[in-house]
Amino acid sequence: MKTAEIRKKFLDFFKSKDHKIIPSAPIVPEHDPTVLFTTAGMHPLIPYLLGEQHPEGKRLANVQKCIRTTDIDEVGDNVHLTMFEMLGNWSFGDYFKDESIKWSWEFLTNKKWLGIDPKKLYVSVYQGDPQVPKDNESIKFWKREYKKSGIEAKEGERILALGKDENWWEQGGVESGPAGPDTEIYYYLSDEKTPKFDVNNPEFVEIWNNVFMSYRKQSDGSYIELKDKNVDTGMGLERTAAVLQGVKSVFDTDLLKQIAIKIEEFAKNSHHQVFEETSPQSLGRAVRIITDHLRTVTFMAADGVEPSNIERGYVMRRLARRAIREALVLGVNHNLFANIMPKVIELYNEAYPELKDNKQAILTALDKEEMNFRKTLVKGLREFEKISRDNKTLTGEIVFKLYDTYGFPKELSIEEAKRLDMGIAPDLDDKFELMMNEQKQRSRTATKGIFKGGLADDSKIVTRYHTATHIMYKALRNILGDHVMQRGSNITAERMRFDFSHHEKLTSEQIRKVEEAVNDAIKQDLPVSFEQMSKDQAFGIGALGAFGEKYGDVVKVYTIGDPKDDYFSREICGGPHVKKTGEIGKFKIIKEESSSAGVRRIKAVIK
Ligand code: ALA
Repeated sequence: MKTAEIRKKFLDFFKSKDHKIIPSAPIVPEHDPTVLFTTAGMHPLIPYLLGEQHPEGKRLANVQKCIRTTDIDEVGDNVHLTMFEMLGNWSFGDYFKDESIKWSWEFLTNKKWLGIDPKKLYVSVYQGDPQVPKDNESIKFWKREYKKSGIEAKEGERILALGKDENWWEQGGVESGPAGPDTEIYYYLSDEKTPKFDVNNPEFVEIWNNVFMSYRKQSDGSYIELKDKNVDTGMGLERTAAVLQGVKSVFDTDLLKQIAIKIEEFAKNSHHQVFEETSPQSLGRAVRIITDHLRTVTFMAADGVEPSNIERGYVMRRLARRAIREALVLGVNHNLFANIMPKVIELYNEAYPELKDNKQAILTALDKEEMNFRKTLVKGLREFEKISRDNKTLTGEIVFKLYDTYGFPKELSIEEAKRLDMGIAPDLDDKFELMMNEQKQRSRTATKGIFKGGLADDSKIVTRYHTATHIMYKALRNILGDHVMQRGSNITAERMRFDFSHHEKLTSEQIRKVEEAVNDAIKQDLPVSFEQMSKDQAFGIGALGAFGEKYGDVVKVYTIGDPKDDYFSREICGGPHVKKTGEIGKFKIIKEESSSAGVRRIKAVIK
C-alpha cells in the first residue's frame, strides 16, 4: 500500500467516525514561542486539549508534518527520521479509551482499511504510579479487541504494563502542558513464531501511540487532573508504510526510496573523485542521512525558515551542512540541493502544496547555503585531518576555530572527530560556549561603535510597540469579547504582529473601532506602571497572561492607567514599557488575516 493511500485511508476512516479533517499546521509553531518546531500533531491543538473549544468540534483528525531532531544521531538506522508525517486523531472531552482502542484496532486490522495481521500486533499500557492508577481499562479493551480476532491476549505476554519512560506522554522540553498515560501499538517485524515481547527489541516497531490526555503538567512538575478526558493519537506514517510495504526500513518505503535512488543516480553521474575511502555500509548510511536531511530542510524552507546561526535557522543549517558533508562520501561535490530537491517537492507536493508554491524560494535558500559552505568545506576537512594528526582529542577551541573559519557546525565537528578516531574533551561544550560568547561580545562592541545612536533609537521604538501591543490586546477584548486571548506576538522596529484567538475575520468597522480605541488610550496619555508580585496574586487581580508563556514565581504586572482606579489594561509582562501612553505615537492596523484555525493575526504600525 502506497504512502498516499495510507494517508487517504486514515482520513477517510476517521471521517466515517464523525471526525473533522484539519490541515497540517506549519512546521514552525505559530503561537508557541517556547518550541522551535511542531513536534507532534497535538502541538497546535494544545489550547483545545486544555479545555478551549475548537471551532471544528470535539473530534478531529489530520496528517501533520513534524520535526524532532533529538534522534538525529540515530538517522541512518531503519526507523529514525528528523522529519516525519504523523497521522493523528483527537477527542476533546468526547470519546475516550474504549472507542480510541476499538477504532485503532479496526483501522489497523480490518481488511477494508490497513488489513494488518492481528497476530503481528503487540501493545503496552501504563503501569501506574502513586498518583495515577494502572491503566486496567485499556488492558480490558485490548483483550476484547484481540478476542474478536480470535487471539487470547495475556498481560505480560502480548500486553505489557510499563512505567513512565515508556507509557506516559507529554511534550518534551516544555515545563507545562497536557499530559497523560498512553498505550502504544507495536508491529513485530520478524517471522519468528513465538517471540518474547520486549519494547527494546528493534524487531518490535512502535507504530501508533494513543495518549489519554487527562492531566495537566504544572511548571512545578506536579500534575492536576483535567476536567475533560481527551484522546491524542499519533501514528508514524513512514513506519506504518514500511510495515505495509513489507520492508524493514523507512528508507525503503515508496517515497523516501525515490529520493534515495535519485541521490544514488546523481552520485553515479557526478564523476567526481571520492573524497575518502568508503565502505558499502558508509555509502548506504550517507544516502539515508542525505535523504532524511534534505527532505527536512525542504519542508523547513517551505515554511519560511532560512539557514542562520541561531535557533531554527541553526538547526536547518546543521542539517543542510551535514547533508552536504555526507554527499562528499558519495563523491558529490556540487549542486546537491538543486538536483535532488525538485524530486522531494514533486513527491510531496500533492499532500503539501506549500512545497510547490514556494519552490523557487526553497531552491534559492538552500542553493545559497550550499555554495557558501562548499567554499570552505574541503579546506576545513583537510585542516581537520591535519589537526587530528597532532591532537588526539577534540577541544572546544578547535571546534570554535572550525566553526569560525570554515562554518562547521559544532555537531558536525564532533562527528568528524569520531570519523578520525579522535576523543572528545569533556569540557568541549563549555569552552566552545565561552569562546562564542566572547566573540558575540566583541562584535556587539564593534557594532555599537559603528551605529552609535541607531541601536538606542531602535530599542525605543520597540518599547513603544510593546506598550501599544498591551493597549491593542485590551481594545480587542473590549470590542470583540473576552474570548480573545493572546496567542503570540512579535515586534520589530518596523511593526508589531499579534496573534489572538477569534473565529471570524474582523469587519472593517471592527478594525476601525480597535484603531480608534487604541489611539484614544494614547491620546489620554495614561500612566504606565508596574508592580512585582506572585503569579497567583497577579492572576488574582485580573492580570492577563499570554498562552504558552512561562512565568516564574514572582512576576511583573504592568498596568496602563490608574492602578488604584478604573485602569485600562493589566498584564503580566517583563517590560520594558513607555512611561506615558502619549509617547507611543499614532497607531494604525495595516493587515488582518487568518493565522491558523481559530486564530487571527494583526499587523500594525505606529508613526
Ligand atoms: N502526541 C503523541 C505522540 O507524539 C501522540 O506520540
